[in-house]
Amino acid sequence: MTGDVRVRAMHAEDVEAAAATLYEAFYDIHARHNFLPSLFPSVDSARAVISGLLDGRLARCFTAVAGGELVGSTFLTERGATAGIGPVSVAIGRQGGGVGRRLMEALIAAAGPTTSLRLTQSLFNTRSFALYHSLGFVPRDIVAWLEGGSLPTDTPPPAGTTVRPWSEADLPAVLRLDQELCGLDRAPDIASYRTSGRGWLAEQDGRLLGYVVVLGHRHPLCGPATARDEPTLRALLAAAASDAPGAEMRILVSQTSLLEWLRAAGYRVRFFDSFMVRGAWRPPAGATLLPWFPETF
Ligand SMILES: CC(C)(COP(=O)(O)OP(=O)(O)OC[C@H]1O[C@@H](n2cnc3c(N)ncnc32)[C@H](O)[C@@H]1OP(=O)(O)O)[C@@H](O)C(=O)NCCC(=O)NCCS
Repeated sequence: MTGDVRVRAMHAEDVEAAAATLYEAFYDIHARHNFLPSLFPSVDSARAVISGLLDGRLARCFTAVAGGELVGSTFLTERGATAGIGPVSVAIGRQGGGVGRRLMEALIAAAGPTTSLRLTQSLFNTRSFALYHSLGFVPRDIVAWLEGGSLPTDTPPPAGTTVRPWSEADLPAVLRLDQELCGLDRAPDIASYRTSGRGWLAEQDGRLLGYVVVLGHRHPLCGPATARDEPTLRALLAAAASDAPGAEMRILVSQTSLLEWLRAAGYRVRFFDSFMVRGAWRPPAGATLLPWFPETF
């Protein structure tokens, strides 16, 4: 069924069709599982994400075309030896016919053999899980997207630890800590959080122990965050909560005591995703929150 399908780089002229396909495909799967609103609640939101990825050269952008029509798209965000995939979407009328497999095979080939490829996948979506699993992606953890909580802002930092807002001068130390704990090379992302968001650091005797980022004001998003231990992360999240109460977060649920603490603060799960990796993987050391953009690190 895919003999007519060709995968090629996305062009600016593809954005409208890709945005409509992304919006419709996500609306349909979320509606069928009673999970509305979807991750892309409007064509505008889908267009904004695609245009950002294409214009900002943040990702390699791919389309599947058949008979001159766009039938799917996906994105590869490379950061050193790690790359994230997504969002992936196939036109509703073409789903289940091999287009998604063709797109994924093209991405895997484009990434090269040494890249650790990561994606998150809605747990209610048995088709996407089956597709990715058959292509060598291994489920490594579960991501809980948490909303609606209210953290105690008076959570004290561990003895001897101070928490303060970050500044431009802190960036090199933040990058070193992030690389050490998470094994990621995401300097461009952290530099952009520094200009577009707010951040706090925890330190002891001048030694950096962790950082947290908050993006947005009306619907604040908290993360990424990484710290040498959970008490330090809790203190950082409390500092962030005093600036951005109720910020949404994404965590790996294998951090069981962190999840318990957040649930006790009233956080509810909006979505569960599986966190799937093809290639090298080691869990982050210390305690972490996942980022929102790119969402797969
Ligand atoms: C998920 C999506 C991208 C997959 O693309 P697609 O073109 O529909 O998928 P394909 O037909 O290429 O592959 C699906 C595979 O899963 C298999 N499959 C589907 N449901 C399955 C199940 N419950 N158990 C086992 N295998 C299953 C199919 O048989 C097929 O495998 P095959 O190639 O060996 O025959 C597409 O369906 C989509 O856009 N969905 C809505 C948006 C979305 O959820 N995006 C992904 C977000 S992570």
